Amino acid sequence: MTQFLRAGLPDLALAPEVLALLGQLDASQGDVSQAMSLPPECYTSPAWFEFEKRAVYDREWVAVGHIGAIPDVGDYFTLEIVGEPLLVVRGKDSEVRVLSSVCRHRGHLLGEASGNAKNFTCPFHGWSYDLEGTLTGAPEMEGTLPFAELKHTACLPAFRSEIWNGFIFVNFDGEAEALAPRLKGLTTLLQNHHMEDLASIKPVEWASNKWNWKFMQENALEPYHTHYLHTGIHDFAPSSNTRFTEWDETDDGAIYREVEFMHIDGGFNIAGKALFPALPDLTEAERSRVVFAGVMPNLFLGAQADVVFYYVILPQAAGDITLRVGVLTSWDNLSLPTADLLLKGTIDGVAVFNEQDTVANIRTHKGMSSRVAPRTRWSPNEKTLAQINNWLIKRYKSYAASLNGEYAQAAE
Ligand code: FES
Ligand SMILES: [Fe+2]
Repeated sequence: MTQFLRAGLPDLALAPEVLALLGQLDASQGDVSQAMSLPPECYTSPAWFEFEKRAVYDREWVAVGHIGAIPDVGDYFTLEIVGEPLLVVRGKDSEVRVLSSVCRHRGHLLGEASGNAKNFTCPFHGWSYDLEGTLTGAPEMEGTLPFAELKHTACLPAFRSEIWNGFIFVNFDGEAEALAPRLKGLTTLLQNHHMEDLASIKPVEWASNKWNWKFMQENALEPYHTHYLHTGIHDFAPSSNTRFTEWDETDDGAIYREVEFMHIDGGFNIAGKALFPALPDLTEAERSRVVFAGVMPNLFLGAQADVVFYYVILPQAAGDITLRVGVLTSWDNLSLPTADLLLKGTIDGVAVFNEQDTVANIRTHKGMSSRVAPRTRWSPNEKTLAQINNWLIKRYKSYAASLNGEYAQAAE
């Protein structure tokens, strides 16, 4: 059986603050009819964020991007997942790999933000690696370590990765169960979008967003706010037209909902209309709705008639995230003479909603830091928030119980 690289952060003893929060989670489990929100400190506490890095980001499948952004051999992009520098590259064999971008000599990072390369040469002392991460050159090392020896020990580590519908995920645990079998419902719902065959624009990066990563999924997945915060511009997709999904313990990779449009080919821009021609295999019913899905923890996507827009959420700290925003559409749509304009309109359209959400997220994050921050019950229209918490709490408790700490003893 293949052994995958395990590269989690070292466990930390559960701090009293983390233990206290773990002890308050039961009230947030269950359906929207009975559950309440997480304790506010789960959004603001640096100690809780450190716990989440280990309980969630070190163990789950974490999204890094979409294969449509690196279609050709040598195409690559770099990113950091909770501080871990990665190089996502399409090799000579056309396989997509998620490699460490840390040079095996003294640790300089390899690669620019994105591009196309024949190999990666470290600017510091000139060690070079091929597209699969194999060391191919290390100048002036012969006097201490012959290259024949060095090349077996100094290749870039490859992390376990999985591709679902064209989205690339990495797993630092090396032992997580496959992701796709936990996305059955969503896979069926989106099958006619054929996302694995779509082209992706080079994602646009929005840095320094001063709110917790969980708000991003919460805001995107609950329809309660759309009628108020997005008054007017969201009316073509009214929250009363939402179809929720029931929580399924055996198919829990994603939290998602659909919203029926008031007309066919709706789109999230000021006109409320899709700008590109609809994707070819969608039925009329599929062209008349959007699917909003959070592939937990850090991929959000909105699938509409002509495009799928997506956010890869990159947490930096308890109150700081970087977002990579991408758009998928067909290669035919991208070859239209007006494609650049339509793409710009599509991204600007999403940005209109995002600007309103940004204000709400910043202000909510501030509110969560208050001495008297609320822990609330929800409206039925926040059903997805209870589902997000079920997903999270399962991971929180499972990791905490795996540690030889006070919590494990208490849980026995
Ligand atoms: S750190 Fe890369 S060659 Fe020295
Ligand atoms: Fe919103």
